[in-house]
Amino acid sequence: MTLIDGKATAATIKAEIAERVKEIVAAGNKRPHLAAILVGHDGGSETYVANKVKACEVCGFKSTLIRFEDTVSEDELLSKVRELNEDADVDGFIVQLPLPKQISEQKVIETIDYRKDVDGFHPINVGRMAIGLPCFISATPKGIIELLKRYEVPTSGKKCVVLGRSNIVGKPMAQLMMQKCYGDSTVTVCHSHSATLKQECREADIIIAAIGRPDFVTADMVKEGACVIDVGTTRVPDNTKKKGFRLNGDVKFDEVAPKCSFITPVPGGVGPMTICMLMQNTLLAGEKAIYK
Ligand code: GUN
Repeated sequence: MTLIDGKATAATIKAEIAERVKEIVAAGNKRPHLAAILVGHDGGSETYVANKVKACEVCGFKSTLIRFEDTVSEDELLSKVRELNEDADVDGFIVQLPLPKQISEQKVIETIDYRKDVDGFHPINVGRMAIGLPCFISATPKGIIELLKRYEVPTSGKKCVVLGRSNIVGKPMAQLMMQKCYGDSTVTVCHSHSATLKQECREADIIIAAIGRPDFVTADMVKEGACVIDVGTTRVPDNTKKKGFRLNGDVKFDEVAPKCSFITPVPGGVGPMTICMLMQNTLLAGEKAIYK
């Protein structure tokens, strides 16, 4: 069994990005600049955004954090998005989700200029991804593809089951695993209403679990020699931890790992790759490599 080390892989990629940024700046070009909008004080979102800002420093990017209280109106937030669209110094930006209920997330996403949408959430990027055109690909699925590639996990012609159908992970993940230039796999998407979920998993060469249910994937659902990718990061109360909680994956790691050819841990698997791929998208945005 090979443990896929997302933390180490992400550190390697960030070092590669930092090297590239040095070249860009040495050639007299502008340092890539990522802006992030954070609304409210949700603990998870605060941590994610702080880690994104930290990763920008490691990569040598300029970063700007823009904060709003959770009482902000939709109009106020959309005005800021339009301002960032027009700001030539900002190469890419994100609006951290989820947003308070008075704000339509879809409206916000669609207001972001797709050429600066380094999250890859805008329908133009989603659509271009689906038909294999150059675009910003959302960070979590992109990070998983990168891990599979770097660990040389066989995917072509293999049976891949994606658990979960979210817009951020499940759907784009299934698209990428299906496409010839990425996974080239035979893909099945299962969700909370799939009658044959366990059977599908038992037949899978690759399981990508992104349903947000701690310890959902058990040993009886996994074929001997399968590759298991765990996207789950549910906060579970844990008094032995300083923060009072731990991050729990969707996979019951201890019993599943011995059956696997490859497996990602939680934490330290997919999580660090997600932020790293946001950095890669920001580099692409700074270089105007996808859109002029
Ligand atoms: N919330 C959870 N994951 C993400 C992400 O990748 N991007 C943004 N903007 N919000 C998130």
